[in-house]
Amino acid sequence: MNNHYKRTLVTTALPYANGPVHLGHLAGVYLPADIYVRYKRLQGEDIVHIGGSDEHGVPITITADKEDISPQDVVDRYHSMNLDAFERCGISFDFYGRTSSKGHFRTAQEFFREIDSKDIFVKKKERHFFDPQTKRFLSDRYVTGTCPICGYAEANGDQCEQCGTHLSPRELIDPRSKLSDEVPELRETLHWYFPLGRFQGQLENYVERHTGDWRTNVLNYTATWLKQGLADRAITRDLHWGVPVPIDNDEATGKVLYVWFDAVLGYISFTREWSENRGTPELWREYWQNSDCRIIHFIGKDNVVFHTLMFPAILMAWNEGRNEGVYSLADNVPASEFMNFEGRKFSKSRNYAVYLGEFLDKFPADTLRYTIAMNYPENKDSDFSWQDFQNRTNGELADTLGNFIKRSIDFTNAKFNGEIPYECTEEDWRSLGIDWEDCFDRIEKAYEDFHIRDIASLTMQIARAANRFLTDSEPWKVLKTDPDAAARTMALSVNLCYTLAIAWYPVIPHTANRIYAMLGFSETLDDALKNGSASWDTAKYPQLKRGHNLSEQSEILFRKVEDKDIASELEKIEGLLAEIEKKEAAEKESTRFKPEISFDDFLDVDLRVATVMACERVKKADKLLKLQLKVGSQNRQVLAGIAQSYSPESVIGKNVILVANLAERKIRGELSQGMILAVEGNDGKMNLVEVSGSEINGKNVQ
Ligand code: 2FM
Ligand code: ZN
Repeated sequence: MNNHYKRTLVTTALPYANGPVHLGHLAGVYLPADIYVRYKRLQGEDIVHIGGSDEHGVPITITADKEDISPQDVVDRYHSMNLDAFERCGISFDFYGRTSSKGHFRTAQEFFREIDSKDIFVKKKERHFFDPQTKRFLSDRYVTGTCPICGYAEANGDQCEQCGTHLSPRELIDPRSKLSDEVPELRETLHWYFPLGRFQGQLENYVERHTGDWRTNVLNYTATWLKQGLADRAITRDLHWGVPVPIDNDEATGKVLYVWFDAVLGYISFTREWSENRGTPELWREYWQNSDCRIIHFIGKDNVVFHTLMFPAILMAWNEGRNEGVYSLADNVPASEFMNFEGRKFSKSRNYAVYLGEFLDKFPADTLRYTIAMNYPENKDSDFSWQDFQNRTNGELADTLGNFIKRSIDFTNAKFNGEIPYECTEEDWRSLGIDWEDCFDRIEKAYEDFHIRDIASLTMQIARAANRFLTDSEPWKVLKTDPDAAARTMALSVNLCYTLAIAWYPVIPHTANRIYAMLGFSETLDDALKNGSASWDTAKYPQLKRGHNLSEQSEILFRKVEDKDIASELEKIEGLLAEIEKKEAAEKESTRFKPEISFDDFLDVDLRVATVMACERVKKADKLLKLQLKVGSQNRQVLAGIAQSYSPESVIGKNVILVANLAERKIRGELSQGMILAVEGNDGKMNLVEVSGSEINGKNVQ
């Protein structure tokens, strides 16, 4: 890691402009990046956050065909929808570009030409499906047919949606073109390949240099690819939507760059566009081509190898033989795991998602930002549940942070005329019982290491301590007997409000600005940061002097989330889940058996006899029972969707079969440590698989 950098460039994965971004995207990429960037801005560092829309790729043309509109219409719609949602959420991009822009075409084509001129690409002739009616080559997703594995008649050319098998179009039985429904024919076509293997050694060195500072998941995904040996990757496609291959001859006609080749270059073209817009067209080089700059890519785990292998290799190819205009490689690639939604993966195709814009129509951005920060999926998948959102908003934001701020400001306004009545000393500050140095050291370290959950929870600890201090000091009582002591309490409390405004700014910037306004500053906190009158370090000591005037207006920072507010959301999920379950059941019905597994695979599943010791219903989930199981010397809590078939009392004492080594997960905010076996009858009733016998608890099922 380069610790002596002068500038930082943060990029966030470019979301496809083919649908609205959902909370999973926010949690994995945009919120952690924004928290980091805002913190660095508070520290006065030179940092630029570049993002934008990924506007190419086959799914976009498929949407366009489906809706009978142009791909440009599709990307226009989602680009502005996503940009708007990000703005409302406070994701503070310095530039949010589009890969359909002229500036991007220029950069992407420049890269292609440079690498082509060095003869690095490998050209290969191959036979692809061609639709004779529309006279177009068909990319994998444009071919449909019968799955050779499960017999599903509508399998896609790249994957069968029903059994999940990855396919190539030529494996399909009775292939058809999605454009015309005609039988496609195989035709020869030429494609450019990027020889990743040529850079294997350099890439290994690059990754090796970062074994100490990259996350384990990032190193692991990358190592798997490196171990297998890097193969040539096709970087052109026969498509009419994308960046045209910049070669002026028949060979290249009708071909575009593969979406991933152009998307990663978007980071560069957008930084260039940002520089140009500022009237300093060469400034981007200080970020991309100067070793003083640290580059960080925030992404989700599904994008790892594109950022740790593909993109660096493209830059290595560009850099080969050059002394000038040499690009730097990323210093860090903090990739998140996934955040699930109410115990299930977000799924765009099943519409199982909460979209960011829709969420913000109902609830304020900061309540979402805080809840997500507390559930940041750093090392393993996490979960967003409405219950957790309600608990955190009400218990932590409203009752702890909001309550403290309001009490401090209101009481000072009411009893001290809105004026800070006492000059706090360092000794007063230390007497609060917070080890300030250690506290800020830990928060700063959490920022440096992208530990987003720690950032939020450590900052909440300051709010808790402040709240306790105010409550325990009881200024409303003390005022009568010892007004000086009450004055000291309020001066400290209001100074703590200032500290909290600054410390919370990266996570909940809207709230931080509101606290700052309540403290009587006429400029916004955002402006104060820009002109340097507020900064991170000002949070560490009392800043508000005796005589400083607060604003007369105080406001409630967080409205509580009522049961009724989330009831409709929970109902919606139940409807969706019922639909999904029905669909899955229907799919299962037509499925023959799952693909064969080996005997060893079977032995990997640890099935145990467990006894139900206690059981209760789960609040607001009418399908779920929460069971407490005894399995040998261990206790397990398992959630099972059997509440409509069994009463809690009726299952107590039953010996059931537990999948004991299943990864634990949260369902509706409750931990489920395994799964119990049950069969759904045609009547929709669930039937537990029960075992009879004596002294069988904890035993293996074999
Ligand atoms: O997975 C995705 O949503 C891609 N559009 C991410 C691209 S990241 C980068 F390469 F731009
Ligand atoms: Zn299949």
